[in-house]
Amino acid sequence: MPVALSLEGVRAGHRGFVLEIAALTLHRGEAVALHGPSGAGKSTLLDLLALARAPEAAHSFMLMPREAAPLDLRALWAAGEDGAITDARARHYGYVLQQGGLLPFLDVRANIEMPLALLGRSAVGRVRALAVRLEIKDLLHRMPATLSVGQRQRVAIARALVHMPDIVLADEPTASVHPGMADTVMALLREEASAAGAALLLATHDPERAARQGFRLLQLIPDPGGAARSVLPA
Ligand SMILES: Nc1ncnc2c1ncn2[C@@H]1O[C@H](COP(=O)(O)OP(=O)(O)OP(=O)(O)O)[C@@H](O)[C@H]1O
Ligand SMILES: [Mg+2]
Repeated sequence: MPVALSLEGVRAGHRGFVLEIAALTLHRGEAVALHGPSGAGKSTLLDLLALARAPEAAHSFMLMPREAAPLDLRALWAAGEDGAITDARARHYGYVLQQGGLLPFLDVRANIEMPLALLGRSAVGRVRALAVRLEIKDLLHRMPATLSVGQRQRVAIARALVHMPDIVLADEPTASVHPGMADTVMALLREEASAAGAALLLATHDPERAARQGFRLLQLIPDPGGAARSVLPA
């Protein structure tokens, strides 16, 4: 499978917390589940991969978009090219937040179309196809507040995929749904990301469920010495 994102020798963190990534490669079409105890740095790692925070140090940090030249993010950060980084996020990433993160003042269709609108694109057929696959086509004119948790999750998945991103990130998208729905949400994310040719990385407290569904597991390991430091081994 072609590589979508590749990092080596990256250090990131908050004041007082350090995350060390020896090496991480995400391939197109693959599904990866990130696990580790609470506070191990899963959300910090997703923010880093989402280009929402810059690393403190990086040997290499490359994004390989399907339809554009490879992006050397380490060089862009070093040069302070914030505009190029924001553009890369909008173009190449989809993000599913734990609670869905839908905009309450927009209907379902406008929520799903938001990433396209930000890129100045439209894709009526793509929205319809996703809505059919995710079984939300009868909800397109509803407001988020009138939907069930599971329906909102499916709308959030459609929104994360509508612009054919290269990388799909999801931070514990199944934490607030019942166990049967957790299987459905994970499977939908995996199938849809794979169909779109994207690499999927999902943070979860339930690695067994993810493994049963065919996710490759990645574990963040807190420093056994008790220091505020976690390592993602190669
Ligand atoms: N805004 C912040 N400022 C300072 N430290 C933070 C901040 N957010 C998180 N941390 C610290 O960074 C470390 C990693 O937190 P992070 O949220 O990435 O963990 P997590 O694995 O996602 O945990 P959880 O499973 O509870 O969501 C923790 O030690 C936490 O206390
Ligand atoms: Mg977290």
